[in-house]
Amino acid sequence: MFQKDDWMTTEQGSTQPGTNDRPVKLACRNVWKLFGVNAASFIRERDGKASMADVTAAGLVGAVRAVDLEIRQGEIFIIMGLSGSGKSTLVRCMSRLVEPSHGKIEFEGKDLLKISDAALIELRRHRMGMVFQNFALLPHLNVLDNIAFPLSIQGQDRATREARAREVIDLVGLRGREHFYPRELSGGQQQRVGIARSLATKPEIWFLDEPFSALDPLIRREMQDELMRLQTMLHKTIVFITHDFDEAIRLADRIAIMKDGEVIQIGTPEELVVNPATDYVAEFTRDVDRAKVISAYSLMRACDGSEHGGTVSPDAKIASFSASIVSAGKPFAVVNGTGKPIGEVTPQAVIDLLAGIEHARADA
Ligand SMILES: Nc1ncnc2c1ncn2[C@@H]1O[C@H](COP(=O)(O)OP(=O)(O)OP(=O)(O)O)[C@@H](O)[C@H]1O
Ligand SMILES: [Mg+2]
Repeated sequence: MFQKDDWMTTEQGSTQPGTNDRPVKLACRNVWKLFGVNAASFIRERDGKASMADVTAAGLVGAVRAVDLEIRQGEIFIIMGLSGSGKSTLVRCMSRLVEPSHGKIEFEGKDLLKISDAALIELRRHRMGMVFQNFALLPHLNVLDNIAFPLSIQGQDRATREARAREVIDLVGLRGREHFYPRELSGGQQQRVGIARSLATKPEIWFLDEPFSALDPLIRREMQDELMRLQTMLHKTIVFITHDFDEAIRLADRIAIMKDGEVIQIGTPEELVVNPATDYVAEFTRDVDRAKVISAYSLMRACDGSEHGGTVSPDAKIASFSASIVSAGKPFAVVNGTGKPIGEVTPQAVIDLLAGIEHARADA
């Protein structure tokens, strides 16, 4: 067996972008949201434990059930799951837009369910940004004023807030439409106004509920790039809901997969693809371009003494060296940060991966 420690401690060579060691920004501790009569007392009486059958028998909807997770400072944390699996409800619980029935939400270690309403409003206004699936733009305000609106609530003067609004208008590609009203914009443009509006306040933690799903593929990709660009500059903590695993892979540090209100698995895209916890998770990752997700580390075997045609780092994705290893026709050494070989990847293993042979074996 290979020891991850051989290279996890080095500067390069982690399969993960290294979010593990960052401080926790927001945590959910056994969070429940049940809809229905006496939902909170139902789960309190059971000491925060109940099966789906219990919930259903009590006539309640188990929108979020026993969710434990930690979102780390500066990471892009993606939530995926089928429609109705509880993604939006969970994210609304995180900002207390929906009051959880049970459990704790900790923001920088402080219990969000215990802070005063005034403190909560302050937190939402200055430190949280939100873009929702069906966000409502203010129909009587034009683009500029919609985007400047949260800044006027913060008490900023007109010149300052308009200057900031124009910055984010540029960022989301809406220049020239400052004076349009929401009804004069396409769905995608309206969504960009919502994104710009939520960015105007420079939030520390940013909740995005399928923000790009109404955009056409080209614009969607641009917005994803924009998000990544912003992230390298601003290092926000981002909680992002999407149905699209390709989008998740592009953006995610880690992905949480939800089913029937529960979080089934949390991991890097590669962990989910290589080790799906359930068939449901495997189904989500089925059509993924595995060479773009799987790293040399996952594919390597012990060196067997054969000559090497090159070297790669453990975290190099297969797609980044597939052409060169196949044309070299020799195994590549997988080397850690100090240049020490920790294994090798063979051209055949790469060809099998590209041909989906490994996948077919796993299915057999
Ligand atoms: N206010 C409410 N009252 C009753 N049930 C609700 C309420 N809000 C959500 N639900 C139920 O909770 C479950 C989770 O809903 P939620 O909107 O969180 O799902 P989702 O994963 O975001 O779905 P989608 O991908 O369609 O947006 C669903 O069964 C939904 O019907
Ligand atoms: Mg939703």
